[in-house]
Amino acid sequence: LAPLCGRDLLSSADLTSAQTAALLELASRLKQGDQRFDLGGKVLGLIFSKASTRTRTSFTVAMARLGGQTIDLNPQVTQVGRGEPVADTARVLSRYVDALAIRTFGQDELDDYAHWATVPVINALTDLEHPCQALADYLTLQEAFGGGPDDLAGLTLSYVGDGNNVAHSLMLCGALLGVNVRIGCPVGFEPDAGVLERSQAIAAERGCGVEVHHEPVAAVRGAHALYTDVWASMGQEDEKDSRDAAFAGWCLNEELIAEADSRAIVLHCLPAYRGKEISAGAMEGSASRIFDQAENRLHAQQALLVALLGTG
Ligand code: CP
Ligand code: NVA
Repeated sequence: LAPLCGRDLLSSADLTSAQTAALLELASRLKQGDQRFDLGGKVLGLIFSKASTRTRTSFTVAMARLGGQTIDLNPQVTQVGRGEPVADTARVLSRYVDALAIRTFGQDELDDYAHWATVPVINALTDLEHPCQALADYLTLQEAFGGGPDDLAGLTLSYVGDGNNVAHSLMLCGALLGVNVRIGCPVGFEPDAGVLERSQAIAAERGCGVEVHHEPVAAVRGAHALYTDVWASMGQEDEKDSRDAAFAGWCLNEELIAEADSRAIVLHCLPAYRGKEISAGAMEGSASRIFDQAENRLHAQQALLVALLGTG
C-alpha cells in the first residue's frame, strides 16, 4: 500500500486491482483488531455539501480510532458557502489539515479541489461516484463468501435500480476485483457510458464482465449479491415522483431474491426507502447484510486513511 501514500481517491478506478485487494485485506485485519496504526496528530477535513449520516460519522470515528481527528468544514460554516473559490480554499486548507474528504455534486468540483490541494483528497460521494462505499460493499461480500479478496473473483453482484454514483463505483471496483457486475435498470436510467466502457475494459483484463440489463429477473438470476439504492439521489429531489413511476416493478423484494443464488446476500448503501427500491422483508430478512455493510464503512475507511496518510 506504500504507493498510495499522499495520493487522492477521486474514483474507484484510481486504484489498481492489487491496491483494492490490499485495502480490503487491511480493512479486514483492522476489523479483527489484528493490526494497529497510529495517525496521532493527523487531521482530516470534512467538506460536505450534501447530507450524510454514515460517511461523516465513519470518517470521524475512523480518525479517532487511529489517534487523529476530523474537523467539520461544511460549506455553511466556512467561507465556501459565501463563494470563496475552490482554488483558494484548497490551498489554504492544505496548510492546516493532512487530508480532505469531500462530498459534493459535480465530479469536476472534486477534481478541482484535488488539483489545488497539496494533501490527499478523498471522494466522500459525488454525483458520479462513491468509491468509499464500494470498498465497504466488497468487504461485506468477501466476509459472506469467505476467504480473502482473491476469492471474490468469479462471484456475481447484481445491482438493480438507478445507474447512479453507487452503481458506478460498484462497477469499477468490482471489475478490479474480478467480480461480475450486472446492472439492472429501466430504459433511460443506465449507468454513465464512460464509466461502463472503463469498467468493461478493466473487467476484460481481469476475466470478468460488466453488463447492463433491462429486465429485473435477468439481472439477478444466480447472483451472489443483490444490491439496490435510492431511485432519486441527493440533488434529484424534484424528479422523485417521476422516478417512482419509472422504477415501478424494480423493487428488490423476496421474489427477486428467490431468483438469485441460494447463498445470495442483500445489500443497500442506505439510507433506504422501504416499499420503494427495497421491500421491508428483503431489508430485514436473513439474507440481509445491510447493517454489517454500514459497519464496514468504518473499517474500509480506516484502511484507506492508513494507506493515504501513512504511519510515519
Ligand atoms: N451510504 C452513505 O454514504 O450514507 P450517508 O449518506 O449517510 O453518508
Ligand atoms: N445514490 C445516493 C447514495 C446515498 C448514499 C445519493 O447520491 O443520494
